Amino acid sequence: CGIVGYIGYRDAYPIVLKGLQRLEYRGYDSAGIALYDDKELKVSKTKGKVADLKAKMEQEVDTSGTLGMGHTRWATHGVPNDVNSHPHVSNSGNLVIIHNGIIENYETLKKELTARGYVFHSDTDTEVLVNLIEDVIKKEKVKLGKAVQIALTQTVGAYAIAVFDKKKPNEIVVARLGSPLAIGVGKDEFFIASDASPFIEFTNNAIYLEDGEMAVVRRDKGVKVRKIKDDSLVDPYIQELQLNLEQIEKNNFDHFMLKEIYEQPSAITDTYRGRLLADEGIIRMAGVDDNLERFLNAKRILIVACGTSWHAGLVAEYIFEDLARIPVEVEYASEFRYRNPIINSDDVVIAISQSGETADTMAAIKLAKEKGAFVFGVCNVVGSSISRETHAGAYTHAGPEIGVASTKAFTTQITVLTLIALKLAKAKGSISNTDFHMHLQELETIPQKIEVALESNAHIKEVAFKYKDARNCLYLGRGFNFPVALEGALKLKEISYIHAEGYPAAEMKHGPIALIDEEMPVVVIATRKGHYEKVVSNIQEIKSRQGKIIGIVTEGDTSVRDLADHVIEIPDTIESLTPLLTTIPLQLLSYHIAVMLGKNVDQPRNLAKSVTVE
Ligand code: G6P
Repeated sequence: CGIVGYIGYRDAYPIVLKGLQRLEYRGYDSAGIALYDDKELKVSKTKGKVADLKAKMEQEVDTSGTLGMGHTRWATHGVPNDVNSHPHVSNSGNLVIIHNGIIENYETLKKELTARGYVFHSDTDTEVLVNLIEDVIKKEKVKLGKAVQIALTQTVGAYAIAVFDKKKPNEIVVARLGSPLAIGVGKDEFFIASDASPFIEFTNNAIYLEDGEMAVVRRDKGVKVRKIKDDSLVDPYIQELQLNLEQIEKNNFDHFMLKEIYEQPSAITDTYRGRLLADEGIIRMAGVDDNLERFLNAKRILIVACGTSWHAGLVAEYIFEDLARIPVEVEYASEFRYRNPIINSDDVVIAISQSGETADTMAAIKLAKEKGAFVFGVCNVVGSSISRETHAGAYTHAGPEIGVASTKAFTTQITVLTLIALKLAKAKGSISNTDFHMHLQELETIPQKIEVALESNAHIKEVAFKYKDARNCLYLGRGFNFPVALEGALKLKEISYIHAEGYPAAEMKHGPIALIDEEMPVVVIATRKGHYEKVVSNIQEIKSRQGKIIGIVTEGDTSVRDLADHVIEIPDTIESLTPLLTTIPLQLLSYHIAVMLGKNVDQPRNLAKSVTVE
């Protein structure tokens, strides 16, 4: 979910509305806004998108008022409908809340409150929380800030919340545990949001609340941060943001996803800038340099992640084992924490997360830390929870990724992980000097080679048109490109809702081959590297069963061209770097298919960009 709030001297509505549009990638089942104009509290909410909310709100109420907040929801408790949408108002009609996260013990609290006469209109845990706060105010005769604090100590769960009391319209109280919350600090005005994108055009100064902290934000007196547990005051760190508006707008692209696909050359350049010094033969990464011994003494590396980041971890497994000769295990973060895993204090755990907020990944990190492992984060969002929870890390510097289907985060994650593997290989002596230099130089050419791969866009669109009505699709790859096949299939599933599966090419004959007929498109990654001949025989097997073959091949390839129905070329590179190129046509293919099917590419149904619930 995404939350946004404003308190200051301007009209809150346009700020909150635009903020919600920017946060819509975080959740979009329903949306709502509450405004207060010194006389009246106005709340509008609706199932659906922020655009639906705008239409409804402007018809229903007068949108003036200098205090406001809004919410865009990814449903956890209760189906997405108007009643379950936020903001929620307390029984007295005074308190208004927006909430991102889950209150796990809400049923117990709800029973207690119901027994005391509280009435609930929705199925949400959030409505329970706002009435709990109200109950504390009444019982304890305390101010809103104190009441929020007391109420939160009675809850179990995760949250980022913002609350105001229409009778005290000079303050908003916010708190976080497990879900991100940033406060934008302006002159006589303050902004609240799940990330900085809603307020970046107003201020570059932000306070990121830490877990277990709350703040009272006053129009006239500024921000006061405290620890929820013991009430102690915290001196907030005001961070200066580097983000600019252009980075979070679509420019001339139809969708964020397409923009982000095209940003990959620059995103990768930004990721290795200052780190990769090819001429000097150096890779500089402070997070690794400062902990080199831990990495070199590690008996194994455990990688934990979810979704696309997990796929980047799988690519990294091939790269680390091949170059640095360190055993690697890649785990779904969600499985890892629930299966009593063996973690040794000499393990290095690498957690990969674009958002840096994924709850499952966070929980896996905490478990690994408890067991004494060294945990290294690879995150994209600067200052995110995971980047702070890990012992050290390296950012991907991909810039904000707004499209829900991850693209540039994936290739920049692979870039960072390749740099680490190469650095360790060099330090261990498991790579020859010549090979090391060759890798560095080749890595530097990747952005330009992606530009070349992107030139196939029009051709890929034609291929997409041929297969847009397919019901199923198979993706095959081997070695470094097996995880790319998984990622290609995930991209298609996520945004076009076509069922797709990724498989290691040779494994096809042990099952999926039974599915192949003239209706079945099979995307085969068949670069002229590792196992090429074997993949060519797999292609022959598909061909003899009338499957439709889309080959991703190295430029100039002829063998696959003779067999395949379509080929999409990518430039030549060394084997371990091919995933950075083979991924590109797969992203474009699913993008075009989804657009042709009229799907919402940037905000596919049921998915959220950052999943802060377990
Ligand atoms: C969600 C997103 C995926 C993403 C996954 C992990 O499911 O829809 O695109 O890969 O979370 O997110 P993270 O931010 O941890 O990389």
